[in-house]
Amino acid sequence: MHASHKSHRADVGQGSQRARTPEDTRKYCNLRGLRMSAETTKSLLTHIEEHRRELIGSALKASSFGHWSGTVASSLFTNTFLDKLTLEIYTGGRESLEAWCDAASDTGAASECPRLVVLTCAALSASFAGEHGLSEEVFSYLTERGNELAQRIEKADAARKHGVHVDPSTLVDREDVVTSLLVTLEARDPETAEHAKAVGAWCRRIARAMHLATEQQEFAALCGTLHDVGKVSTPREIINKPGPLNEDEWADMHAHSRVGAKLLERIPSLKGVAPAVRSHHERWDGKGYPDRLCGDEIPLMARIVAVADAFHAMASRHNYREALSLSRAVDALVAGRGTQWDPTVIDAVLGIVGREPRVTELRPVPKNPSGS
Ligand SMILES: [Fe+2]
Repeated sequence: MHASHKSHRADVGQGSQRARTPEDTRKYCNLRGLRMSAETTKSLLTHIEEHRRELIGSALKASSFGHWSGTVASSLFTNTFLDKLTLEIYTGGRESLEAWCDAASDTGAASECPRLVVLTCAALSASFAGEHGLSEEVFSYLTERGNELAQRIEKADAARKHGVHVDPSTLVDREDVVTSLLVTLEARDPETAEHAKAVGAWCRRIARAMHLATEQQEFAALCGTLHDVGKVSTPREIINKPGPLNEDEWADMHAHSRVGAKLLERIPSLKGVAPAVRSHHERWDGKGYPDRLCGDEIPLMARIVAVADAFHAMASRHNYREALSLSRAVDALVAGRGTQWDPTVIDAVLGIVGREPRVTELRPVPKNPSGS
């Protein structure tokens, strides 16, 4: 099993504090034939962590991927590559890096993987040199590592073409994938990424208030965090437009739920999130999109995401309007209870914000007009 993204970072941090002496590091570097001083090794590790986002950006820019799905695959690949490279530099976990590279061609970047390894190493080397002015030892280390890994990936690619299959879900952590997707989304639009994290947190709260099992609460958080991942395909001008959208722009905007689901369906460890992502803009009364599902036909997680999404969006400031007060945002949720949103989910939010629904606030559910 691989360590999770979080625990892996924690390991690196704890390691630096564990006072590995310069002598230890030198010995380690010599053993591995690295010709890098302890100081440089330490600076390189810090550099990777501090500049991760720019490094991913440079590698993506230099790669030939133009289409969004290629960009996501490249980002996923580069982010995971940087994780494993850090681990390898620090702990000598080269075997896991090699095993991972053997299957890297299955992450979606396919034949571009070797090229991305080389490009990421080049970007890392260039940015490190720019900041520290010590390029040679880092450059030779990365070149050597980059070439070696690129060769391994090429071999794995060739094996795959001959029918040898390795399940990528066993080699890349789900958390790594989620982080990569969020980094991609953030690079495109920081506001959407912030919103995604907040919606994830609200989904967890709502699921807890609905007394769902702990795993379901975590799953709700994951669905909320990834609900807008399809916006990596929405043009920036549309996302940031300071005013109402025209018909064509709405069509582009509406595509994000389908696109997000399609993308997640391709990632083995996140397949299960796809239905919630596809349906998070459906409405309880059947007037939503993309499938005009109605009531219980809409997956429960999508109904939770829909409320968390709307609630956080209303309570946040946007280019096109100021934030609503908490009380007005709750009023809007109550107004859409049973028309736009699942009444049970709205009631859970009312419970969280400490407000009991007044009978006069409650609208009848269209499917059951005689109900209260
Ligand atoms: Fe959305």
